[in-house]
Amino acid sequence: MKLPALYALVLALAPGGLANAYDERLDITPLTGEHWLVSFDFNLSSAVSHHHQLFPRVLEGVLASSNASELHLRFGQGYWDADNWGLTPNNGANVAGTGVELWARIAADSYPDAEASWFSLANSLSGMFCASLNFIDSAHTTSPKSVLGAFDTNHSLYLFHGSLPSEPVCTENLTPYLKLLPCKGAAGVSSLLDGHHLFESQWQSMSIDLSVEDGRLHLRQSIYAVLHVDRTLERRINPVPEPEPYEAVKCDSSRDYSNPQNGICYPRIPGIGEINVTLSDLFGSPIKNGACLSKITSKSPQICLHIPSDNWSVTASDELSPAIKSVDQICYVIPPDSDFDLSIHSETRESVLPKTPSPILASRHLVGWGQERGGFHSVYKSTSGDSPVSFVTYEVLPWFMRVYLHSFTYTLFDSAGAEVATGSFSASNVSSDIAQLLYYKPAQPRVSPSHIEMLLTIPAGSKLVTMYQFEKSLLYYNEYPPDANRGFDISPAIVEVLTDSSSPRAVFRTTSSLLSLPTPDFSMPYNVIILTSTVIALAFGTIFNLVTRTFVYAEDLPKQSLAKKLRAKLSKITSMFS
Ligand SMILES: *[C@@H]1O[C@H](CO)[C@@H](O)[C@H](O)[C@H]1NC(C)=O
Ligand SMILES: *[C@@H]1O[C@H](CO)[C@@H](O)[C@H](O)[C@H]1NC(C)=O
Ligand SMILES: *[C@@H]1O[C@H](CO)[C@@H](O)[C@H](O)[C@H]1NC(C)=O
Ligand SMILES: *[C@@H]1O[C@H](CO)[C@@H](O)[C@H](O)[C@H]1NC(C)=O
Ligand SMILES: *[C@@H]1O[C@H](CO)[C@@H](O)[C@H](O)[C@H]1NC(C)=O
Ligand SMILES: *[C@@H]1O[C@H](CO)[C@@H](O)[C@H](O)[C@H]1NC(C)=O
Repeated sequence: MKLPALYALVLALAPGGLANAYDERLDITPLTGEHWLVSFDFNLSSAVSHHHQLFPRVLEGVLASSNASELHLRFGQGYWDADNWGLTPNNGANVAGTGVELWARIAADSYPDAEASWFSLANSLSGMFCASLNFIDSAHTTSPKSVLGAFDTNHSLYLFHGSLPSEPVCTENLTPYLKLLPCKGAAGVSSLLDGHHLFESQWQSMSIDLSVEDGRLHLRQSIYAVLHVDRTLERRINPVPEPEPYEAVKCDSSRDYSNPQNGICYPRIPGIGEINVTLSDLFGSPIKNGACLSKITSKSPQICLHIPSDNWSVTASDELSPAIKSVDQICYVIPPDSDFDLSIHSETRESVLPKTPSPILASRHLVGWGQERGGFHSVYKSTSGDSPVSFVTYEVLPWFMRVYLHSFTYTLFDSAGAEVATGSFSASNVSSDIAQLLYYKPAQPRVSPSHIEMLLTIPAGSKLVTMYQFEKSLLYYNEYPPDANRGFDISPAIVEVLTDSSSPRAVFRTTSSLLSLPTPDFSMPYNVIILTSTVIALAFGTIFNLVTRTFVYAEDLPKQSLAKKLRAKLSKITSMFS
């Protein structure tokens, strides 16, 4: 039987429209001359419990067994340079912070029931994605009040959030991630996703968003990575780094003393000037196509380059002409029956599209010294020139950081750097113009983390510094990880910029922090054991020797010849063994 015909029949018979809808696309956006953002996006929606569904059954099972109506999973690593690269893609809606993060909305009759479902959900995802999500216990779980969509909550639904900032993200997470795709990463734009190329990028983020709506399951998977183009090309062309021959060094001809013929050459700074790359240079292979994809996509997969098309030229394999060509993008429809590659060339690669600036720039760092106390210092800078910006921050601190509530203070600086106002937060509902503590839940040792949500407003062009102090607790001996002196990772803070309800909120995460705790001297027990063992061995040896030896006076010994003595000794030994 012909498969396409069968498939058409399935589509026609499916109740409520399409049984399956699947779309994928790839966007490539040069952020600067050397850093390129690549975004992979895969959408799949399927009728619940349909026989001919593409939807991964294992995920459907996880949703059903935990009564979750929404589930979001994030894996991220690296540093997003908001100063130079602007806001994270898609307003940050499906972008990860450092480590692994999971949140879900769970339907249950009571909070304890919902919590039990949440732990079982984390456990089942842990096995599926080879991540330590099973370490999300009550000491890592909070219920956000004003971020991550918590504002449109429903009484029978409980929102839970947990994160593991020290979790490394690697190929073992990517493989199960690609297995969820209908073609398992073997065809279409996902065939470019290879662990070696993805995880050597400057910054990368993988996300899974799962929801049930109107009897349909929706799965969105997004992968973002910022490639350092020169380094990626260098690895491919010249895997063992060695100095370039003189002829190959590109000289900066804008310097007036530059004279390459006479050996006077100032090497050109990477990231400017000419670039000539293909998709296979960047990802190691062209886009592979198979019969798999052409049968399941509802729209043809697309690849788009976001570039000022005056200064860039793009050629596709087989001289394919672009589907869309405008001043700021060039898009191709990937042909269903052959491999596809693109060649991208520019004389002036520093000419890139203007970026959406992040409405605020945020950074958070640990301050203080010593082993007993510390502080968290956050700096928020408004980039908008004309209107004040309001945003909420969500911070979760492990129980061993005991926050002093009275120490919450803020200082506001104007655009010239002069101090304008200082004040303290209030835990009650006394709203001040600048800083308000929306929610605060103190930690319970070994049971629950501290949970802090703040509402902050900064006037245009100003800088706000918030500060609080905490005390470090001592852990039990067996609670320290093997690398205790490295420190403890603290989850990134989530910042959501409030807008009028119509547009989506911009959301981003700060970097994670590394806290050093008072650490016992783990070598001490071994020193003690070694010392006491030595003393005991010495004492025992001497005493044992003294007790078992017989002492006789030398005069009492009968005079014997050497041969006789030996014979006597020998007969004694043989009698011992007989
Ligand atoms: C996936 O769905 C989201 C939201 O519905 C949409 O913004 C995005 O463009 C879709 N992606 C693809 C590849 O169709
Ligand atoms: C899911 O919700 C239904 C109805 O609220 C309840 O009967 C059922 O026990 C729940 N299942 C789990 C696994 O909690
Ligand atoms: C709350 O959730 C239930 C179950 O999903 C739904 O039936 C109900 O309409 C929701 N209520 C509101 C006000 O959104
Ligand atoms: C780009 O490189 C390819 C192969 O390396 C070459 O064939 C092509 O002519 C180059 N294009 C330009 C504009 O230099
Ligand atoms: C980009 O192209 C336009 C029009 O061809 C040109 O005027 C402009 O100088 C170019 N930009 C750069 C950075 O070279
Ligand atoms: C807290 O303040 C908000 C506005 O800032 C107000 O809507 C709410 O009613 C207040 N809650 C209480 C308990 O006073």
